[in-house]
Amino acid sequence: EQLGIKHPIFLAPMAGVSTPELAAEVSNQGGLGSLGLGASSVASAREQILKTQDLTDCPFQVNFFCHQPEPLDEAAAQVWLDYLSPHFVHYGVALPTQLKNLYPSFLSNDDYLNLVLETRPQAVSFHFGIPHAHQIQALKQAGIITMVSATNLAEAQAIEAAGIDIIIAQGVEAGGHRGLFNAAIDGGIRTVDLVTLLTQHCQIPVVAAGGIMNGQHAQRVLNLGAVAVQLGTA
Ligand SMILES: Cc1cc2nc3c(=O)[nH]c(=O)nc-3n(C[C@H](O)[C@H](O)[C@H](O)COP(=O)(O)O)c2cc1C
Repeated sequence: EQLGIKHPIFLAPMAGVSTPELAAEVSNQGGLGSLGLGASSVASAREQILKTQDLTDCPFQVNFFCHQPEPLDEAAAQVWLDYLSPHFVHYGVALPTQLKNLYPSFLSNDDYLNLVLETRPQAVSFHFGIPHAHQIQALKQAGIITMVSATNLAEAQAIEAAGIDIIIAQGVEAGGHRGLFNAAIDGGIRTVDLVTLLTQHCQIPVVAAGGIMNGQHAQRVLNLGAVAVQLGTA
């Protein structure tokens, strides 16, 4: 209801895999289409959002990585370049002179935030962490729904305390990668157990992700209290 979708089914945002065509198709069928923009430049992210808006009038979400940005360690980078150089030589490929960060973080600056505020998708979700307070506030003021993935109760409680609207409960079965951000605890919790735990202890809606392949699986987690399911691998 919050998202204005007909079916409680999200396409999982998948960086490098979910396309505007796939996102729009899911949205046009009444689910929530998703764009995984975690590895996209601002220009490419804008292009993908505008293309999706061309293909559908229905709600969709965009997804960013929210990891603590890691400053480049020049010395460590050089060790990697030296270590890998024989492989570049072996395949006759030009040797890179520096390491490039493929994954920008939403936390580094407000460029991605401004893009979201400009293009106004229905919802935005975050992986590997929680946005800054001023970013959450700006999204809320714009009426954009916020979601963050959690792999354990401590992460879910931090998400709820930050004023996020929806928790994506990502069980250990989840394909791709898990958005763990409290690295001190990885209990490898299964999706059904995580949904049970989070719906018991959190007040905000919980969406189940991880290993959901068909309607039977979806019904099972909905019965446990999830409000929707998010499917990637399927
Ligand atoms: C190829 C692939 C890429 C993924 N990339 C992202 C991503 O960029 N952001 C994100 O939040 N989740 C990402 N995920 C995780 C999904 O959002 C979701 O949690 C997971 O696919 C659910 O498990 P399932 O694959 O068993 O359906 C990815 C999953 C896959 C399979």
